[in-house]
Amino acid sequence: MPKMLIAAVFWSLTGMLVANAQKCGRVPVLENRIVGGTESREGAWPWVVDVTTQTPTSRHVCGGSLIAINWVVSAAHCFVNPDVNEYLIYAGRHQQHGYNYHESAHSVKRIVIPYGYVEPHSGNDLALVELSTPVTWSERVQPVCLPDSGTLFPGGLECYVAGWGNIREDVPLGGLGTLQEVQVPIISQSSCQEMYRMHPTEPVDILHDMICAGFREGGKDSCQGDSGGPLVCQMVNGTWVQAGVVSFGLGCAHPNQPGVYTRVTSFSSFIRSTVPGIQLYGRAHQSWCGRVAVVVSCLSSLLIQLQR
Ligand code: ARG
Repeated sequence: MPKMLIAAVFWSLTGMLVANAQKCGRVPVLENRIVGGTESREGAWPWVVDVTTQTPTSRHVCGGSLIAINWVVSAAHCFVNPDVNEYLIYAGRHQQHGYNYHESAHSVKRIVIPYGYVEPHSGNDLALVELSTPVTWSERVQPVCLPDSGTLFPGGLECYVAGWGNIREDVPLGGLGTLQEVQVPIISQSSCQEMYRMHPTEPVDILHDMICAGFREGGKDSCQGDSGGPLVCQMVNGTWVQAGVVSFGLGCAHPNQPGVYTRVTSFSSFIRSTVPGIQLYGRAHQSWCGRVAVVVSCLSSLLIQLQR
């Protein structure tokens, strides 16, 4: 009898702990430019959004990613014009010039940029964009997970970047404007710093809040117009976590000049203090496991006590 009671308490407690907001970092099961990439399948990256400006005519500016029902992560340099009325953000978009059944358009309520942002080369190239109206979660519209500050993205880890940017330097994406994707490995901080320091004409300092991805030999990369879009890596449990935000490069896909991304883990406290109720991956995970472990050990000691 007390055992049943304890079981009931246990399951309602764990239920309460598990019942969080929309689960992040999950993609629908599909049967299945970015430079050197391929067309993505519809719904492959359900958190990717298209950031556009409205004047004089509708124009693609940047990418971004959904992290909550009314929040998008993008790059600070995408919002040179601070007027929120300039922007319209499309969720559930696959083709820029096709019909997207799951698409919704959202105006912008607020753009929050870390204190000290000046230009991409000096870091802090991140923007948190609050939407005026929330998205509706569906199979084609899902949030990505953001990492806690302790999450590691080691050199060699295979990640993906998606966007509607140029398919080669100065060559815009044509046709229907289908979202492109490319797989790029993380490049360790030391090799990226070394590659960019060696640059003959334009040496760049790769700062701690930047993370590089791509190939030493070049060929595959993000490019102009991909900025603000997410660099995502799949964790062992299948969850997609955003490691970076497309920030800059020297040209696109050149050897020894991999893409430079804003390191999302450097902004976890900024994100936590700006986006109400956001759960960051590592931390949510740890504390979730931690709390369950505490409940389990606590209950089992109780059981042992009761059985004595
Ligand atoms: N700054 C560019 C933009 O605004 C992104 C450049 C990314 N370049 C690269 N080689 N990965 O779209």
